[in-house]
Amino acid sequence: MRTARRSGALLALCVGAFAAGGCDREPAAEAPTLAASGVSQPAGWADELAMPIPRDLNPDPNVLEIDLEARIEEIEILPGTKTPAWTYNGTVPGPMIRAKVGDRVIVHFKNSLPEATTIHWHGLRVPNDMDGAPGVTQPPIEPGGEFRYELELRDAGTYWYHPHQDSSAQVGRGLYGAFVVEDPADPAVFGDELVLLLSDIGLRENGDLLDADTGGNFGDLFGREGSVLLVNGKILPTLKVRNGKQQRWRIINAARARYYNLRLRGHRFIRLGGDNGLAARSEDIYNIVLTPGERADAVFTPADPPGSSNVLRWVPTERGYGSTFNRSSEPMLAIETVPDPPVTPEPIPTELRTIEPIDITNATRRTLDLTIDIASTVEMGINGVPYWQAKPLEIELGDTEVWRIVNNTPFSHPFHLHGFFFQVLDDRRVREWKDTVDVPHESELTVAVRFDERPGAWMYHCHILDHAEAGMMGHLVVRDPNAPTPADEPAAGGHRH
Ligand code: C2O
Ligand code: CU
Repeated sequence: MRTARRSGALLALCVGAFAAGGCDREPAAEAPTLAASGVSQPAGWADELAMPIPRDLNPDPNVLEIDLEARIEEIEILPGTKTPAWTYNGTVPGPMIRAKVGDRVIVHFKNSLPEATTIHWHGLRVPNDMDGAPGVTQPPIEPGGEFRYELELRDAGTYWYHPHQDSSAQVGRGLYGAFVVEDPADPAVFGDELVLLLSDIGLRENGDLLDADTGGNFGDLFGREGSVLLVNGKILPTLKVRNGKQQRWRIINAARARYYNLRLRGHRFIRLGGDNGLAARSEDIYNIVLTPGERADAVFTPADPPGSSNVLRWVPTERGYGSTFNRSSEPMLAIETVPDPPVTPEPIPTELRTIEPIDITNATRRTLDLTIDIASTVEMGINGVPYWQAKPLEIELGDTEVWRIVNNTPFSHPFHLHGFFFQVLDDRRVREWKDTVDVPHESELTVAVRFDERPGAWMYHCHILDHAEAGMMGHLVVRDPNAPTPADEPAAGGHRH
């Protein structure tokens, strides 16, 4: 398609030149000859997007053991100003955790913040007591406190980590990091990998953080979008590409409330999957839409002429009342195409992975109605009940559940489940495993989940973190009928088992 368009343009050029007295350009000379696999990415292609890699304290190649400290650090986000950001190891985003399927990751975490916190490993199938839900799977980690997280990486995919305590404020101030679980069996044709962690932050002109509760009730209702868009912690960084040389982008939306709709003029993307690794098939898409918490895995094939510039843009997404009104697109990532001649992209396979549909014949069916109650304050909930009044859903180990998630509110809500992957029951979608999915306003969707392991208490909530904090959150208890003691005793704050 790309080649056809280029030769068409060339033909028009030649016809014009011929009419004017001759055409001495050979169309064949324009056709790419080198295969993408025969060249490397441009030198320093992703230097501006580098994220810190933590030091591995463990000599075992199958164990990644790191120190992680949450602390306030003055960093430069707006040029010439200092922001007292909340960071992991002093940077926004925090270090990128990267290991392969089957590895173990040990994190020695220290909380040097002035408030209690926890870490939630978003999307990973972790042991229940490692899930980081304060008061549910562990007590909050108080200032000065430490906690040892240990995870076994069971599923390849793109994940991330963030606090689960006062999460809208803490994530909003900069606490998040990427977590990639590689599958060494992935085909090389997907291209060189680039992790793009998207976020935003609310800053005053002098670099100070806006108050976590700016906007009051309206902030709760709409969800607080930061004033500055960040890609890997930077404002409008530059990526260097070569025409035809593919890149595999793993994109993470770590913003507390903002949806991303990514568009690049003159380009399409090949979507490989999202939250929990590859989808069943690859898909040709025009834009990439990500709710807070969601991830995308997509092949980007640069198609701009050598020596030209382009910009990946954030485009307003219709996510409910007032979400697109009077808003324009914003630049996020500058893309410079180097002058080297184009290369021929690798073909991307269509069939990627076998994913059997979840058997729902004996499933327990429930409706989860996402609700908003506007009285003197904004109170959100599930089935009309805010988190602090909600009773857990009772689920027996081994059960399959089918949830109809209903959203009759005027805002879209990204629904997230901890600890388990679900499938969206919708034949129009390519089958894939997910942990976060958009439930657009005035609509509903149905998901299936199998609770076949790891009994205990698990959270589910809207990932617009202001909505979760306003009550749109619940938890469920997976009970093992053969276990000697009930698994649902919440780990109350203040003591550790
Ligand atoms: Cu990414 Cu309960 O959250
Ligand atoms: Cu919501």
